[in-house]
Amino acid sequence: MISVSKKVDSERILIASDKINQTPAFVYDESVIIDRLAALSEVKKNSGCQILYSIKAATMRGLLETIANRVDGFSVSSLFECQIAREIIGDRGTVHLTTPGLRDDEFGSIVEYVDYISFNSLSQWQYYQGHIQKDILGDEIQKLNCGLRINPEISFVKDERYDPCRKYSKLGVPIPELENIKHLENIQGLHLHNNCESSDYTELKQTVDHVCLLLGQTLERMQWINLGGGYFIDNEKQQHELEQIIQDLKDTYTLDVFIEPGKGIVGSAGSLVSSVIDMFESDGKQVAILDTTVNHLPEVFEYQYKPEIVQENSEGGYEYRLAGCSCLSGDMFGDYRFEQVLSIGSRVIFKNVGAYMFVKANTFNGINLPAVIILKSDGVLVLQKEFSYADFRGKY
Ligand SMILES: Cc1ncc(COP(=O)(O)O)c(C=O)c1O
Repeated sequence: MISVSKKVDSERILIASDKINQTPAFVYDESVIIDRLAALSEVKKNSGCQILYSIKAATMRGLLETIANRVDGFSVSSLFECQIAREIIGDRGTVHLTTPGLRDDEFGSIVEYVDYISFNSLSQWQYYQGHIQKDILGDEIQKLNCGLRINPEISFVKDERYDPCRKYSKLGVPIPELENIKHLENIQGLHLHNNCESSDYTELKQTVDHVCLLLGQTLERMQWINLGGGYFIDNEKQQHELEQIIQDLKDTYTLDVFIEPGKGIVGSAGSLVSSVIDMFESDGKQVAILDTTVNHLPEVFEYQYKPEIVQENSEGGYEYRLAGCSCLSGDMFGDYRFEQVLSIGSRVIFKNVGAYMFVKANTFNGINLPAVIILKSDGVLVLQKEFSYADFRGKY
């Protein structure tokens, strides 16, 4: 454990990175997570909603423990996520699952861990409520609070790979299919999630208004609605807009309202600290090879986006093509300008990479995974996990 003094974001991570012996390392700044959760706690206080953390964004135990004390529950999408969610949150909060991937051989275990299941399709609901309840679980399903995921069929996400409401969607029951069903016996809630990385709450308002218009009578019979994740709160205006949407819902219907952000809680808390391990010129460009790879930040490759770097300066006098250390030719982060010259051993820190990166990271080329370190609020660095040859060998 090494101590660093508490300073604001980039400065804190820069100071911390100097104390880290081995790179690459994912560093999670606990104070950023606590700050994001404090904003959500205000939303809860002012609107009466319940806050869940969608653990698919980052599932490390150390983070979950910090978050568990400050939320009402965890939202999950698989058996293993259920298991870790319950293990960490115990009886301090609820565990909520929705997935298109329910399967017979896991369902019996899943129901032991979760409190709420939002079934993804009518066929999934009919199958598990009928067949499984009768043949396998007896009364077990009664302990569950069951809901249905609906597809509001309003798209805000341009890239259809990330749009839950895309054509031929597999996520949720389209509202018109629900309108024809008179009795949703044993269904106590509705779940929706149709956005990604948005700070525009008019989109959530539009979705909620649409659902209320088409499913108002159904909502009158429900206990709860889960509005999903996909939004950031960057300022007070957005916070108030979100509170207003929830309050309006609660004023109209007698509903518990859940929200389940993931990236909005951990995204800006995570940085990847790497080091330069080689430098040379290629076709007139200075290339700096890092000890990390796009496979440690897979969304960089998936989305073809350029991650931000703490030390970059668009006016800086030195430009480098930053490249990853795997043999994939496209393992490149992009061209960056720096104020200072880079040399072997220089630290390069990618920021805002706390969500959906480490959970998707892989060991392509046999390159070890980054260590995971938590930068505690008091400045202490706590090593959570280092990976070794044994992890690589034991993976398959
Ligand atoms: C059903 C559901 N809820 C919540 C989330 C969390 O979204 P985000 O991390 O963008 O807030 C996701 C992300 O894919 C999701 O699929």
